[in-house]
Amino acid sequence: MLDGRVGDICSSRCPILRNRDMFFEKQELYAYSRDELSSFDEPFLRNRLRVLRSILKRETACDTFPLRVKLHPSTKCNFKCVMCAVGRKDEDTDKPLYSETGLNALGPYLEELKVFGGEPLACPTSQRILFTERGFAQIQYATITNGSLMKGQNLDDLARLRIGWIDLSLDTCNPETYKKIREGGDFSRVMENVKALIEVRDRHPIRRFPIYGNFVIQKWNYKEIEPFVSFCLRLGIHPNMNLVVGNTELLGNLDAVKKHLRQGIRSAQQLDDPFAIQNLNIVLDDLPLYRRELQKLLLTNLANSTRVGTRLVDVAKRVRSSISDRSQKTARP
Ligand SMILES: C[S@@+](CC[C@H](N)C(=O)[O-])C[C@H]1O[C@@H](n2cnc3c(N)ncnc32)[C@H](O)[C@@H]1O
Ligand code: SF4
Repeated sequence: MLDGRVGDICSSRCPILRNRDMFFEKQELYAYSRDELSSFDEPFLRNRLRVLRSILKRETACDTFPLRVKLHPSTKCNFKCVMCAVGRKDEDTDKPLYSETGLNALGPYLEELKVFGGEPLACPTSQRILFTERGFAQIQYATITNGSLMKGQNLDDLARLRIGWIDLSLDTCNPETYKKIREGGDFSRVMENVKALIEVRDRHPIRRFPIYGNFVIQKWNYKEIEPFVSFCLRLGIHPNMNLVVGNTELLGNLDAVKKHLRQGIRSAQQLDDPFAIQNLNIVLDDLPLYRRELQKLLLTNLANSTRVGTRLVDVAKRVRSSISDRSQKTARP
């Protein structure tokens, strides 16, 4: 079960097992060595055992402490990327929920703590959570970052953490495209930081953690899918694609997106990256649903901007009710 082979334990007809990609970003527990497990505190081991027992008993609810927590301390950001509504809010609010007391209470039981943003490395609360509230040796820290501030003290601090994974949002390997999408960023400086992070990963004393190169497919970069896949795999990081949400700019180009995704899949197969192959196939499979979502959004936008709006909004609502929402994520190794 730890390494994802659940066939011997669970029925292959179980609806939760079959649809787990839709419910959970990650299903497998982290693997620790025997020595590591014996060095961890008892509350963590006891709670994890209770979770495993609960799974084996096929319970659908359990009264254990959570193993994973995902925090979103603020929207503070040093970039203004063209497709991003979060970065434009740029708030630096300290949410009381993320107080040290709350985290310290959960800390003994967690195996993963994810910090999102905004830009986590530009947010004092996120930095405090990542770098100064440590003390739980078993926690795998994970974050998603634009990479611009991952240097100097931040990089040294990261190098001391047990890291679950790091997502680097790059969107392109072309400096000109980068300028168009990632406003406020400098491609060559970010690439210096990316290479430094890869070095940290390769000599990390605790765990050789996975790094993902994120790429939001949008009108500026959809022709660069394949070059990005090869670029990431040559660097030794996994390309991770998502379709842009919140605007309809790809509606006229979805056939071309499909063609470029297929080219990306061929490269991922040649370079043998199972994560990339799975991720690109999921995006490819999502295209029909994505097309319908964009049509719905277009109708809604049109309705809001015209005098015959009410009728069109009704049409949009009917279209929406005929489409079921699906959110699928690539299972992480
Ligand atoms: C909001 S950012 C926060 C973390 C960090 N600042 C970064 O850029 O990675 C999280 C992820 O959302 C993605 N994103 C931003 N706007 C998006 C959009 N309109 N559609 C899909 N993904 C988007 C970013 O590229 C990034 O990978
Ligand atoms: S760096 Fe991240 S949070 Fe900031 S604007 Fe870009 S995508 Fe949004």
